[in-house]
Amino acid sequence: MIKIGVCGFGTVGQSFVDHVLAYQDKIIENCGREICISIIADRSIEKKKFKSESIQFTSDILSVNNSDCDVIVELIGGTDIAYDLVKSAILKKKSVITANKALIAEKGDELLALSKENNTYIGYEASVAGAIPIINTLKHNMLNESIISLSGIINGTCNYILDQMSSERKGFKEALNSAQELGYAEADPTFDIGGFDAAHKISILSMIAFEIPSPYENIHIEGIESIDSMDIDYANELGYKIKHIATARSNNSLIECKVHPALINKKNILSKIDGVMNAVRTVGDKFGTSLLYGHGAGGAATASAVVSNIIDYCIHVDRNVKNISNSIAVHRKDLVTIEDTFNQYYLRMFANDVPGVMANITSTLAKHKISIEAVTQHEPLENEKLIPIVMITNSVVFKDMLSAIKKIESMDNIVGKVNLIRVFNDD
Ligand code: HSE
Repeated sequence: MIKIGVCGFGTVGQSFVDHVLAYQDKIIENCGREICISIIADRSIEKKKFKSESIQFTSDILSVNNSDCDVIVELIGGTDIAYDLVKSAILKKKSVITANKALIAEKGDELLALSKENNTYIGYEASVAGAIPIINTLKHNMLNESIISLSGIINGTCNYILDQMSSERKGFKEALNSAQELGYAEADPTFDIGGFDAAHKISILSMIAFEIPSPYENIHIEGIESIDSMDIDYANELGYKIKHIATARSNNSLIECKVHPALINKKNILSKIDGVMNAVRTVGDKFGTSLLYGHGAGGAATASAVVSNIIDYCIHVDRNVKNISNSIAVHRKDLVTIEDTFNQYYLRMFANDVPGVMANITSTLAKHKISIEAVTQHEPLENEKLIPIVMITNSVVFKDMLSAIKKIESMDNIVGKVNLIRVFNDD
């Protein structure tokens, strides 16, 4: 009998228990192992409605490690108590399944190595993109070749907000309020809209795909706070949608990993990932391109990913090679510094409507070897004298773009800052 201890009994914890109880017979039949939930721990367990005669309840989370559970399912989140719980569980030779992206992205190098040393299983399918089986796919189906790049829309909150700004013509604040009302965004939405959630997730995927230590501390992170409705409209006119995207790419001995808003050509399938949906595109040297699409969050979707790890654990435990699924960093690859990365850019600026202003901008860009692929000059906004100028450049190194923008912003007839957004290029 495999005994499971569930730590954290919020939305995902409750969905997980419901899922296991509903599918217990099927899991047992397919894995050839009896499983049961023997204990549930939550700091405010007294307030939770679920009661069962066969399951023990406690508000002392760390005490679960003193029980006879074989597997700890960590659904608490964060890196404080969750870290203490998982570390001590592994040291007690217990296996761990977690949905905690912060834990794996920030403490995963240590915990995965510890798990390997102790021959315990550690599963974290639910930590990235909810129900999309991207971790299992990378670890198993795609293990036999080299991954070239990963790109994903992996934060549902950002995707929902940008989609509402585009399809419903809402302003940023209104779209954020609606994400909060629907329970997609937290009361403090910084973690999602600031890009940190997506950064955790792409770090975890990079660890597996490129067999490197977590790059989280060093990756370039931009959120969606600077996206204005006018950028959505101008991008649309030029044939693009704006999405929040996370990318990672292996260039010989270097890894490029970044999280930022981007213009995506409407012909690209990633531009069609709308609402709170997630998608991850993987390019391998043999399988070519693959796209996985699905629900990236929510109790049932996340719980389903946790259950997939329970099944994986049951299969491994019979072989007594519990850590076969661990991805331990075997390569020490440096990250490309953001200033050295290449991209096409969307630039939007305001100028006084005087002769020569456009010529000054284009000659400054030319001096930095930046050419313009598209340019539009719009009517002044209502009640404003300034004209908006929008450009798409060719692919240039970021440091040259930064230095050109500094020059443009210092021109007499340019007012305010240049808004710069990368253009996603997936070749
Ligand atoms: N807050 C995340 C999102 C879901 O908006 O995608 C959990 O990872």
